[in-house]
Amino acid sequence: MTTQNTCSCSSSTLPEEVRRFAEDRVAQSRARSFLIPTLHKLQNAVGYLRDDHIEEIAELFGVTPNQVKGVASFYHFFSFEPKGACPISVCTGTACHVRGAADVLAKIMKLLKIEDGERTEDGLFSIGGARCVGMCALAPVVIIGEKVYGNVTPDQVEDMLKEHGFKGDET
Ligand code: FES
Repeated sequence: MTTQNTCSCSSSTLPEEVRRFAEDRVAQSRARSFLIPTLHKLQNAVGYLRDDHIEEIAELFGVTPNQVKGVASFYHFFSFEPKGACPISVCTGTACHVRGAADVLAKIMKLLKIEDGERTEDGLFSIGGARCVGMCALAPVVIIGEKVYGNVTPDQVEDMLKEHGFKGDET
């Protein structure tokens, strides 16, 4: 007869590959240097950093959830909210900023009725700022899903969103 050492009542909700990755790393020296790679794995697996996952990772690495959040919030890549099916990135780099990115972002937020960092109720869109995406000659740049839009003006935003399924009207 064989016995198993795993507990079937585990309440862990971390994706298995993330848990295994983290457990392997925390056994190594300078384990905390693997915190960010672990968060990358989690973000790739789940799409964002959920609070319960952050708590589990904090426990594994022997830090507090606030410390994990502090580290993650330093990097733009990490998100604490689920992204929409069509994530929208408005470049906030210098060239885009100078050429009106803030007005474009404001128009997108007004049309979708969400703030930067939020997701629409239907889960279709989410908005996140982005640092220079390397296409400054096209500033201001907006990326919706996989499509890049350059020289964007606020007047173009509604049609751009409609290409991706936006149906609402500006109120
Ligand atoms: S600053 Fe926006 S693409 Fe470079």
